[in-house]
This record gives sequence, structure tokens and C-alpha cells, in this order.
Amino acid sequence: MPAIVVVGAQWGDEGKGKTTDILGTSVDYVVKPNGGNNAGHTVVVGGEKYELKLLPAGILSPNVTPVIGNGVVVNLEALFEEIDALESRGADTSKLRVSANAHLVAPYHQTMDKVTERFLGKRAIGTTGRGIGPAYMDKIGRLGIRVQDIFDESILRQKIEGSLRQKNELLVKVYNRRAVSVEEIVEYFEPFIERLRPYVAETELMLNEALDRGEVVVMEGGQATMLDVDHGTYPFVTSSNPTAGGSCVGTGIGPTRINRVVGIVKAYTTRVGAGPFPTELFDEMGEYLQKAGGEFGVNTGRPRRCGWYDAVIARYAARTNGFTDYVLTKLDVLTGIDRIPVCVGYEVDGQRFDEMPMSQTDFHHAKPVFEYFDGWSEDITAARTFDDLPINAQKYVLALEEISGCRMSVIGVGPDREQSIVRHDLLD
Ligand code: GDP
Ligand code: IMO
Ligand code: MG
Repeated sequence: MPAIVVVGAQWGDEGKGKTTDILGTSVDYVVKPNGGNNAGHTVVVGGEKYELKLLPAGILSPNVTPVIGNGVVVNLEALFEEIDALESRGADTSKLRVSANAHLVAPYHQTMDKVTERFLGKRAIGTTGRGIGPAYMDKIGRLGIRVQDIFDESILRQKIEGSLRQKNELLVKVYNRRAVSVEEIVEYFEPFIERLRPYVAETELMLNEALDRGEVVVMEGGQATMLDVDHGTYPFVTSSNPTAGGSCVGTGIGPTRINRVVGIVKAYTTRVGAGPFPTELFDEMGEYLQKAGGEFGVNTGRPRRCGWYDAVIARYAARTNGFTDYVLTKLDVLTGIDRIPVCVGYEVDGQRFDEMPMSQTDFHHAKPVFEYFDGWSEDITAARTFDDLPINAQKYVLALEEISGCRMSVIGVGPDREQSIVRHDLLD
């Protein structure tokens, strides 16, 4: 079994961490291809809750080598905080490997993130404020600092100088902030250098050699399809490519080595931050889903906007990523709702759309066209086979499968590792 890609199908927080964790017991490597500490994955193992931001969820499985791929932007302060927190709870993080080509997030990236958001005013993206966009801007602008650069002080100085020259002009003249000195940034990185060294590796080669040996590599995408800088609801997106193609770029694994692309989709929809969201609920039902689903961001603590399942988005995600399987999460949260609406198309100024409209303006004005399904009231959190589910829950899943562009191979009925129904083995 070669490489498997895990991708968020909606706007993030679908349960990617839990999915990787389930796979974790039978895979060899879990690599994070994109994003940084803007992600937040909650994983529950035997009632113990772990919150991961920068580290891939594979870190909780002792047999897995967790990897931070070249496509990630790494905040070293956040990385070591997370490592220390896990170590203090008895986890072993010594197998972690970090690509020498991954880029680093510097304090000025966080400053730039915050000032640009403020400058955007009403048009702000609602970023996590972690400096992710500015770090990727430096990478694409060829002004970034890579992990390997911090091991050569003269190179590090040159790179920091290059990155700060233009930023200081902006900070001082446009944003009315103080200039940042090269020295303070060198000093910022200094304490991390020796601690980072043993983790750094040529992960691209390492992962390909593992695949050559027939080992299993999971590529655990951060964020999600609708937050992809190319395929998402631009400009209300993150600054990387969380879609399946991005996982090749972000790990150095070629597309021919991937044999499963697994989309993670919630049984309803949530979104953190600004941007269009056609099925969003503004009434007490939205509050109900928020409460029942515990929909508060792990990373920033912000409440997640909640709405019904959107099959137009699911179909879009299925084709953009080439999903082979879906993991449908949080079905248990819908227990007790009499009639469950599912968005099957949009209406924009009297025109019907069965697929994503080409224009962003149309998407902003899209009104959902709903089909309704009968709910169930039985507790499903102990269900372990599809037949254990009440008939209406089964019908709901089968209806989603029919309209979402791909089979639903695993169904989540609770946050714990054990609370999953496997219809098709993802590792077959
Ligand atoms: P990620 O960013 O995609 O990994 O998702 P998050 O961890 O940010 O958000 C998903 C939340 O749902 C977490 O709190 C998980 O513990 C929880 N979760 C995952 N799957 C299920 C499920 O099937 N049922 C319930 N009730 N919670 C789940
Ligand atoms: P996981 O991996 C949900 C959102 C932010 C904001 C936009 C841009 O847990 O699913 P950024 O800081 O990346 O520049 O913010 O993207 N966002 C997420 N929303 N889950 C995430 O990660 C997210 N990562 C970024 O809220 O709207
Ligand atoms: Mg999350």
C-alpha cells in the first residue's frame, strides 16, 4: 500500500486529526505537507484529549515517524512548546523529522499578519494571526528563511536582512510601527538552533525510500479544500494548497505513488473566519449545532460558524481532489434533530446552480436549495457497524454518499479513536 492523502473537504476542522490517528496504528509515516500552527486538531485517545497545531496527528502513535514536510511554515517557538507539552504527558517525540527545506515563521511575519488584517478593515480575512500568510509571501517572493539556513549564521543574517529591508519600510512608513533589527531576529532563532538540529532531515528522500520499501505514508493535509489559495473561496482562504495536489508539492512525493485520496467531511458544515458560507445558520439551530458539536476553534478559541451539509461543496471537493473515499464525521451530533436539511444546489437571482458557480460574486449570493431527511433520536455513539445505526441515520448517510461524488468509507460517531464505523478499509 503506497501513499494515502488525507484532505479536508470543507472549511477545516472536519476531523482530519482523528482520521490520521485512526490510521496511525497501522501506518509507518505521517507527513504534514502544508500550513503551520494555524491548524488545530483535537485527538481523543482512550478519553485523553490532545490538541495539536503544528505537529501531524501521527505523533500520538508510537510506531509512526511523524514528519513536517517541506511545504510547511514552521514557527519554532510553537514547535517546541508543543513538543514539551506532549513529552510532559509521556509521549515520545524523538522520531519527529523536519524537512531542511521547510520555511520558518519569524516574529515579523506575525506582526505583518496582524497589521495587514487591521488595514483591511471590513475586508479582513479573519486569519489566525500566526503569520502564515506573510511567511508564505516571503517563500513565494524568494525572501524566505528555510530550516537549513539557521545552521549557518552568515547565511541566516543575509536572509533576515533581505527579508527585513522591504518590510521595515512598510512597517515604519505605512503601518506606523517600529522597525525590526536583524540582530533581534538572529537572537530570536539562536536558542532553537541546537535543539532543532537532531530533528532535521532530508525528509523528501526519506519518505520516498520508505515507499520503496513498501511502507505506508499518510500525507495529512492541514486546512481544507475551500481554504485552498487556488481552489477555495479566495481571498477568504489560507496561503497554501491544502488540496491533494498540494500534498505532493509539500512532501516531495510524486502523484503516481498515491493510491488513496481520502476526503474528510462533517455531517454538517462549519467555518472559522470571514468569507461566504451558503448554508450558514443564523438562528437557534446554528447555536444548537455549535453547542452539540463543540464547535469552538482549537487554535484561536473562536466560535465556528455552523450550517447544514452542502453537497455542492462536497462534489466540488471530490473532483478537485480526486477523492477515492470519504470519512463522514460527527454524525452523532445530528442525533435528535427531527428533519435534517441538506443543500443539493444553489439559487442565485432566480438561476439554479447544481455545481459551484464560476464567479465568486454568485457564490456570495448563493441561496441553498434544500432536500429534507427524517432524523433519528437514538444514541448512536456506541454504533460500530453500519447496521447498528438507526434506519434514518443509514438513509442519511446513503443519501449523502449518492450526492457527494464518492463513497463514504468511514463514519464517525464520536470523538474517540474507537468511535468509528468502517464500511471500507482505507488501508486495503
Ligand atoms: P481537524 O482540524 O480537521 O483535525 O478537526 P478539529 O480537531 O479541529 O475538529 C474536529 C473536532 O471534532 C475535534 O474536537 C474532534 O475530537 C471531534 N470529532 C472528530 N470526529 C468526531 C465524530 O465523529 N463525532 C464527534 N462528536 N466528534 C468528532
Ligand atoms: P485545520 O487544519 C479552520 C482559516 C482562518 C482564516 C483563514 C486564513 O484545523 O482544519 P490563516 O491564519 O491560515 O492565514 O487564516 O483560514 N483557517 C482555518 N480554519 N481550520 C483550520 O485548520 C484553519 N487554518 C486556517 O480561520 O479564515
Ligand atoms: Mg482544526
